[in-house]
Amino acid sequence: MLAQNNKELKKVLFFALVFLTTQQGQAGESPTSQQDQAQSGHSLAPANSPDSVFLFSYATPADKGHSGLHFAWSADKKTWNPLASEYGYIRSDYGEWGSQKQMNTPCLFQTPTGEWQCIWSLNGSINQFAHAASTDLIKWGRQSYPYLEQGQTFYQPVIRYDRKKKEYTITFISGDQYLRMTTKDFKAYSSPTPIPQTQYKDDRITVTLPAGGAITGNMTKVPRQVIAKLEQFAKDKQQKANQAREISPKNDSIRFAGIQSLTATIALRSTGRKPISDRLIGVFFEDINYAADGGLYAELLQNRDFEYTPGDRKYNDSAWNNKHSWTARGLGFTIDSTAPLHPNNAHYAVLDATTPGGALINSGFDGIPLKKGEEYEFSLFARNDNGKSTALLVKLVAQDGSVLAQTVIQTHAQQWQRYTAQLTAQGDAANAQLEMSLVGRVMLDMVSLFPKKTFKGRSNGMRADLAEAIAAIHPRFIRFPGGCVSHGDGLDNIYRWKNTVGPIEARKPQSNIWRYHQSAGLGFYEYFQYCEDIGAEPLPVIAAGVPCQNSTLTAKGGGQQGGIPMNEMDQYTQDILDLVEWANGPVTSKWGKLRAESGHPAPFNLKYIGIGNEDLITDIFEERFTMIYKAVRQKYPGITVIGTVGPFYEGTDYEQGWALASRLKVPMVDEHYYESPGWFIENQDFYDHYDRQKPKVYLGEYASWGNTLFNALSEALYLTNLERNGDVVQMASYAPLLAREKHTQWNPDMIYFSNTEIRPTVNYEVQKLFGNNAGNEYLPSTIQVSTDAQAVRKRLGVSIIRDTTNGTVIVKMVNLLPFPTTIKLDLGDLAKGSQAEKSVLQGLPNDKTASVTVTTATPAGRILSEILPPYSLTVWNIHR
Ligand code: AHR
Repeated sequence: MLAQNNKELKKVLFFALVFLTTQQGQAGESPTSQQDQAQSGHSLAPANSPDSVFLFSYATPADKGHSGLHFAWSADKKTWNPLASEYGYIRSDYGEWGSQKQMNTPCLFQTPTGEWQCIWSLNGSINQFAHAASTDLIKWGRQSYPYLEQGQTFYQPVIRYDRKKKEYTITFISGDQYLRMTTKDFKAYSSPTPIPQTQYKDDRITVTLPAGGAITGNMTKVPRQVIAKLEQFAKDKQQKANQAREISPKNDSIRFAGIQSLTATIALRSTGRKPISDRLIGVFFEDINYAADGGLYAELLQNRDFEYTPGDRKYNDSAWNNKHSWTARGLGFTIDSTAPLHPNNAHYAVLDATTPGGALINSGFDGIPLKKGEEYEFSLFARNDNGKSTALLVKLVAQDGSVLAQTVIQTHAQQWQRYTAQLTAQGDAANAQLEMSLVGRVMLDMVSLFPKKTFKGRSNGMRADLAEAIAAIHPRFIRFPGGCVSHGDGLDNIYRWKNTVGPIEARKPQSNIWRYHQSAGLGFYEYFQYCEDIGAEPLPVIAAGVPCQNSTLTAKGGGQQGGIPMNEMDQYTQDILDLVEWANGPVTSKWGKLRAESGHPAPFNLKYIGIGNEDLITDIFEERFTMIYKAVRQKYPGITVIGTVGPFYEGTDYEQGWALASRLKVPMVDEHYYESPGWFIENQDFYDHYDRQKPKVYLGEYASWGNTLFNALSEALYLTNLERNGDVVQMASYAPLLAREKHTQWNPDMIYFSNTEIRPTVNYEVQKLFGNNAGNEYLPSTIQVSTDAQAVRKRLGVSIIRDTTNGTVIVKMVNLLPFPTTIKLDLGDLAKGSQAEKSVLQGLPNDKTASVTVTTATPAGRILSEILPPYSLTVWNIHR
């Protein structure tokens, strides 16, 4: 405690000294140039000591600053040495990937208390700028993107400190004007006001870096140790990343040259057993890669509601409009919205045919697959505004023109009316079309075709093969609707659960952040129903009042766009409370009644709610998250709220998210990381040191970068470590789950599919083995391996767990080595008189397919012996 106080005292004295030194002889504003300021971060050496050097900070205009803030240093202001190959110490996180995330003309300034303030221009044409602060130039705090007045822009900022007023002045260029604003804390800013050009003093300098080319930035003076620390930090990072990246099966023959085999002796420890989560393995469902419409949702027609809009694709595809997937042959086909079926579904088709032979055709999602002898449910809403009935001939037609099914629907009502028919396919087709013909005039909407055989035969149901493949993982929970879909592309695109329940024609379709369309046919009711059907806990993830930080730039701004206005947050929070009532409330409650009307009077027994999805942790986020969290906790203390800690396993959002969650005592947080297989191998101790008193972890999104066996086994290895840390890591879901071939926005995924086939990956096989071999108690063991080489030991993973409800003992062993490993496992009494089922997934490391072989055996005694094949996962399920 004393030592700590001494340290603090030294720090205060040091900053006081630096402050006095820098302010000597000055009145009012601090020096006109930062160049000669003595500024020194947290080092104890004064900046103006002989051991100080010049630090140059800059962003690269050539990449619009995407690579972030770089540093170079010089002792003489002539020769400049870039730090750590132009490492980006902080990167802008504003707006969309690609064109946004720019850091232009950054200005770095050290305050009298030693803190570093950095502000930068996001791009030349928007009325926002960016700010972040750091105490050591290494760890950076939250980013903020304050708004200027309408029409103002922000370029080449210069920061000064006014000692008398104790405030900072920021001057900058806005179009052809020079503006000035002030701030005391870099949180609240005065309104920018015009100043004469003479008052704008740009103190940036231009230097030449060894790689050539002149570059402009800020120069300041710092003790040499600052450079050393910056360099060391970046080098460590780069070295770790390279180390992980180098791990690949193609290097294994060199890495493990000379080793032919390994032996390992494993014995259960008599102490240290601990309860672990029995809900570790779940699935992450997001409508990405056509996972919902055209995927799990069994609807066979595309754009059934005529609601596709060019905006779904950011106006980059003129064919993506209300008529998408529909073609008219020999009849009039227009889109109208004057008297819609429902305001949420404004558009509908108007067909006018004066002669027979014309048709309106829907091509489905890459064609309509049909199976001979199977039944299909056809339905539509129609309206005859002229009061004349029409006979609508509905046909399913194969590519060769043969008609595989047909029916006639007599439409007759002047108001919207639903019609249904059953069609039985007379043949197989991979790529059929739906054709509707008539003579006369009719309005149509919600034209739909479902296979009768959906998962569990549910109407408005799910594609059976996909739903069964997911169920086969035996997931203990399903997270939905995302991912980024949950918080959406901008404020207007936040996923609102209320728009996705009730009659399908009243649901509100919307654009998908992955640049297509969501019909909302697969909505919250269907998700909850599916969870119940397969015995998984529903885990809805709701936006924390902010959209995705990667949201496109619109009139409301980019990125988080300021969040839902605070005067709308009460209603937004209420919507979340209503979700709990909808899921769990009695039929007599307002929202419970709606659930019952949809066909489910019994409560769904919701236990978890995720608030936020890997959000940028800003003040805007914190205010809204806290409000929602407190409201849910207060009204529903039994619900486990899951917070969010950013998109990576480290960095500002991770740290700030964890700090906020710990402060608020949020029960669990959602971590995300997509990394190389080497990262998963190198970081097996990631959770070993987590504070057991802090929030629990839901590893909500993770995957190694690929679908080879090597990738899958690196995930298996990591999962054995998650089981060891099952007291902290309560749940984990590989992501993303589904991907439709030719419509994939993200790779790798767990299950690929087309209309007629599903292609589970080897990563899926791993998830399935872990999902089907779960337990609730961890049995610690000791492992002795015939080598001390860490590189070898890290490739061997063992986890022994038990299901205390039935006594089953499960042993999982991963051999990620290119040679076999002989295992001797002493299970003591646990193996006595039991049956063992052995499942093995093995192959060559680059294999993209491999199946699991299952054998059964009766363990002879307490010692189990096994030879683990090279590149394999072996699971023993030992039960009585
Ligand atoms: O899983 C795909 C995407 O990855 C999710 O939508 C998002 O949360 C993450 O960045």
